[in-house]
Amino acid sequence: MKIFVLVAVLAAALLPAQTFRPRREPIPPRSAVTAEEIAAGKRLFQSQCGGCHGPEGGGARGPNLVRPKLNHAADSESLFLVINRGIEGTEMPRSGQLHDLEVWKVVAFVESLGRIEPAPLPGDPKIGKDVYYGGGNCSACHWLNGDGARHGPDLTGIGARRSVNYLREALIEPAATFPERYLLLNLVTKDGRRVRGNRVNEDPFTIQLRDFSEKLHSFVKADLVELNRLKGESSMPGYKDTLTKTQIDNVVSFMASQREGS
Ligand code: HEC
Ligand code: HEC
Repeated sequence: MKIFVLVAVLAAALLPAQTFRPRREPIPPRSAVTAEEIAAGKRLFQSQCGGCHGPEGGGARGPNLVRPKLNHAADSESLFLVINRGIEGTEMPRSGQLHDLEVWKVVAFVESLGRIEPAPLPGDPKIGKDVYYGGGNCSACHWLNGDGARHGPDLTGIGARRSVNYLREALIEPAATFPERYLLLNLVTKDGRRVRGNRVNEDPFTIQLRDFSEKLHSFVKADLVELNRLKGESSMPGYKDTLTKTQIDNVVSFMASQREGS
């Protein structure tokens, strides 16, 4: 009994300190930014980041970084931290491969991108908005800025998360651009109920999903006889044949202009 109490007291004293306090190492000082530093940063960027942000930073699955202002990095220190730690809850990983001086080189390269004139949008976002809510009927499945439906992923702030090319690909070939955190579930309970919907949350014992009528469900996994994860299965229609190229350009521009609220 005594040992138990001791262990409990010790655990109470130690656990919060270890589990809940994030480590806050000071950011190491950076050296002067030179052309060599930027060139070295570019080489690191192309091997570590180019797969998601494009070799020139123009964006792919990850956003275009050729922008004067980044959402998550207002200054050099916060850019260092974004690269060093990643962005929690998003597809942006921490850079486990890079040591501090290399991270500063990548910072120098990404900052140099911010001084390039950004490419113009491919179409007209205002006309694209009409396609989005009109002919495209996108809001029948997507949530955007506090409105719409939740069959598909939330598109609020999508322009800050994805590149123009990715957004176009998402419309033409939906299955090719599957967001990592989006998962369609199909499950059957012990008493024979079938539920289909999007995963909201999951831990080892329980799973929560939202069905297509917006209803939230929570299940204990032990109570399920079937739990199918329809990874890669997209219920989004391709728009290659139903929208013209100009309409697609316009709706892509409308999405690319959605930079707030992510
Ligand atoms: C696995 C893909 C992936 C890799 C690898 C990756 N990123 Fe990202 N990055 C993303 C995604 C996706 C986002 C958007 C996150 C969000 O806001 O949802 C992002 C966001 C960012 C942002 C924030 C942009 C803003 O507007 O604030 C910066 C800066 C960034 N990445 C830089 C880098 C750098 C530098 C590297 C290489 C060291 C890197 N990323 C590697 C996918 C990636
Ligand atoms: C029938 C429902 C449905 C309709 C209609 C629909 N979508 Fe989707 N959309 C989805 C689903 C489900 C996904 C996630 C699976 C995938 O990526 O294919 C998705 C994914 C996306 C993505 C990728 C999001 C990301 O972060 O990777 C974008 C962008 C998108 N849709 C835009 C649109 C636009 C614009 C329209 C209208 C022209 C539209 N969708 C119409 C269901 C739909």
